[in-house]
Parts: sequence; C-alpha cells; structure tokens
Amino acid sequence: RIVHVNGEFLPEASASLSIFDRGVLFADAVYEVTAVLDGGLVDFDAHQARLRRSLAELAIDFDPVAAGLIDLHRELIRRNDLQEGLVYLQISRGVADRSFLQPANIRPSVVLFTQAQTLLDAPAAQSGLSVITRPDKRWHRRDIKTTQLLYPSMMKTLANEQGADDVWMVEAGHVTEGSSSNAHIITADGSLVTRPTSEDILHGITRAAVLDYARETGAEVIERPFTVAEAQEAREAFITSATAFVTPVVAVDGVPVGDGRPGPATRRIRAHYIDHSR
Ligand code: PDD
Repeated sequence: RIVHVNGEFLPEASASLSIFDRGVLFADAVYEVTAVLDGGLVDFDAHQARLRRSLAELAIDFDPVAAGLIDLHRELIRRNDLQEGLVYLQISRGVADRSFLQPANIRPSVVLFTQAQTLLDAPAAQSGLSVITRPDKRWHRRDIKTTQLLYPSMMKTLANEQGADDVWMVEAGHVTEGSSSNAHIITADGSLVTRPTSEDILHGITRAAVLDYARETGAEVIERPFTVAEAQEAREAFITSATAFVTPVVAVDGVPVGDGRPGPATRRIRAHYIDHSR
C-alpha cells in the first residue's frame, strides 16, 4: 500500500511518524473517514467542512484547501487503485517535546492511508446488527472528531465478547450514538427519530444526508433524544456512518426490534443513499 505522510507518498513500510507527535502522546489530533465507491470519494466536501470545524475547535492551524487535501485523497486512491473502501485522514497538532501546554507554531502532521473494504455488499446490510447498550463515558465534546477513541473501542470489543455486533451508548437514559456511528429509530407511526446535533454526538455526514432524504420524501423527521425502551419498541432501527452507510439494527440488548429482521424503510433509505453516493 502507498500512504501519504507530510507531503510525501511512500510505501507503508517506509512511512513513519515521530514518537513525539502530539497525536501519539495526547490524542491531540483530528481525523476523517471518507468512503470510496467506484474509485470516487463520497461526500468529500461535507467531510472537509467538518474537518475545518474540528481543527478550529482545537485551534490546530491547518487549511485543508490550501493543503490540497482533495487532490491528496484522489492521488492516493489512484496510486492504490482503490475501487471500494475508505480514505483515512489524520491531522495532529504536530511534533514537540511532551508538555501539557499546547505548543504554538508547530507544523501539523498529516497522514492519509487507504483501506480496501467491502461496503456495498457488507453482510450486516442483510443480517442487521445486534447492539448492546452501555453508559456513555466519553468526554463531552463528541462533536469534535478527535482520535481519542479508547472508550468506544473498548465498548465495541466488549459487545463482540458478548456475541453482539456493536454498542449503543446511553447518557441520562437516552441513546447518544454507536461506537462509530449515529443511531436512529423509526417509530410505530413511521416517524424517523434521531438525537439532535449538539456537543453530545458527532455531527454525522451520513446522518445529515439521510435526514435530508427522509424530509424530501415527506417522512416525518423528529430530532429528539430517544430511550433504550423506545428503540426496543420501535418498528425499525438503524445506524449511519461513512463506511456502514445505512445499516439495520435488529436487536437492542437482546430484544428484537420489529420482527427482528431488517425493515423496509431502512432498506429503502440505504438503497437511496447508495444511489446518490456513486
Ligand atoms: N466514524 N458517531 C461517531 C462516534 C463516529 O465515529 C462516526 C463515524 C459517526 C458517523 O459519522 P459519519 O456519517 O460522518 O461517518 C458518528 C468513522 C466512520 C470511523 O471512526 O471510522
């Protein structure tokens, strides 16, 4: 695989990052994951806009447009002949001696790599996911896409050990999001209910696209927090993310959602999302 580090394209075995990188020492870094379908980027502009926001919130001085990020993405896809999968981008504050005081005037580190992955025919799209719920113990700026992913990674692993596919995190009785996805339900009356954006959740790019589509089709979209019990009583449930697209959730803490199989609305939304992403 060819990767990109700080202005250079090189084989992954030759790529390196300083052990003093603030991304390594403090998770002082932000990232984006953009899906690739048919060799093209899905919704790059929205990812770039969110990246700008994450960088601004952490006062990391990096201009994605001036850096030609879109061209770096495209060149990396070309060099790896990637048809389907993702591009991972990470920007850290840069390299400095370890200090809790964030150093000024250091050069951000830029890393990009590709990962080939089956997205369109992912088995979970057919089978649906079972999720378990756990308290959301992450920090309270989940709207910033930092590389501080230890808790969701622990919870995903725990879910796996318990025979489930993923976790839905819960705060004050309401679902926040999945380990790396936004959470949604379709209630008995057919409304799409999803948590509003705030500092509590990542402002998902896929979430926004799906809500736009649902509204266009005349569906009722209600942005409010929902409980675990509501999810268990829902007609359908699903997650959204750049790489999962729209994936059904068929059980919550062992309780089947609807008839325990992927539902028609989720299938329709997934198909529409994919059509409009290629
Ligand atoms: N994760 N919520 C969290 C906590 C996430 O990590 C993600 C994405 C999302 C969905 O956002 P989007 O639709 O913009 O991908 C929601 C990526 C895919 C990852 O970490 O791999």
